[in-house]
Amino acid sequence: MSDILRAVLWLCYFAPLVLRNVVRPLEIPMLNSLQTLRTAALAELDQVADETALEAVRIKFLGRSGSISAVSEQMKSLPKEEKPRVGKLLNEIRTAVTAAIAERKAALETQRDAAALADIDVTLPGRPFPTGALHPITQLQDRAIQIFRRMGFALADGPDIETEWHCFDALNTPADHPARNEQDTFYLPDGHLLRTHTSTVQIRTMESSAPPIRIIAPGAAYRRDEVDATHLAQFNQMEGLYVDERVTVADLKGTLEFFFRELFGPDARCRFRPHFFPFTEPSFEIDIKATALGGGERWLELAGCGMVDPAVFEAVSRSRGDDLYDPQKVSGFAFGFGLDRLAMILSGVPDIRLFAENDLRFLRQYR
Ligand code: PHE
Repeated sequence: MSDILRAVLWLCYFAPLVLRNVVRPLEIPMLNSLQTLRTAALAELDQVADETALEAVRIKFLGRSGSISAVSEQMKSLPKEEKPRVGKLLNEIRTAVTAAIAERKAALETQRDAAALADIDVTLPGRPFPTGALHPITQLQDRAIQIFRRMGFALADGPDIETEWHCFDALNTPADHPARNEQDTFYLPDGHLLRTHTSTVQIRTMESSAPPIRIIAPGAAYRRDEVDATHLAQFNQMEGLYVDERVTVADLKGTLEFFFRELFGPDARCRFRPHFFPFTEPSFEIDIKATALGGGERWLELAGCGMVDPAVFEAVSRSRGDDLYDPQKVSGFAFGFGLDRLAMILSGVPDIRLFAENDLRFLRQYR
């Protein structure tokens, strides 16, 4: 076979293969239109001035019926062997345009933030946040709680709306006692009342827990007093109750003397003056003299206290239906004092109403 014939045969046989695999792919028209799309998209993104325009460009190229998506639709009609190259380029372009959009978006956001901050003088001094503070009565109450905590007293609680039984009967206060008078006590139409003292919590605690008991109960009390510089119809008390076997007046005195010395300082002197309360026997009023209370020779009457009256233990026993509080087995002491008048003396406040008026000019002094 001549060389020429061989060459002709070679061309006839192989040339179509070579053309199909090497030359023709370079001429796939879709590749060119994709490149044009990329250039167009990037150019338009460069011109975009705000986020609305950016979104429009995104929809134009990448949206469901955008140009790049249209090309990927056309891929279906491509011959099988062309699909990989077109697909690869399509992906590259989609990635490039997506990245360019994100970059443009970040740039626009930075621009927007900078514009928003342009009018703000960051060198101006900051304005401090107003800080809150505890009410002066709460502060005093917290100090008192801390001292009793150190002696092992736990916090107890009871409702402000009470039964006559918890407020009076169980506390050995007879029906004709003046405190039960409608002129002194707020009665509710359903026969309940607003507790006139926190001593109700003594009863509530003994009803719900077995001895030994060592609790304090800070809380509100209510009396139908005419409101003036030294009286409010709602005020704050702190109650205490200690019940165990063989509790004596010495325990009562030791506990309260320690408390008042911790509260007012080591020079505080306590005087236990015999008194009467229906629910304690014997009963005392405690008078205190201390520099912290203005000094001088003046004794200030600050608290009531006494040994729990056996009649109270009997009432609790009837209510519980057991003999854990049999007055033959247990004894105890109770005390109660008002926080408002104490806070007035300690802080030099001339009018008790200031505590209830929520006037910030007053409260700000007690941070
Ligand atoms: N509850 C009495 C009052 O409000 C105070 C008190 C409490 C007295 C406990 C003795 C024992 O005045």
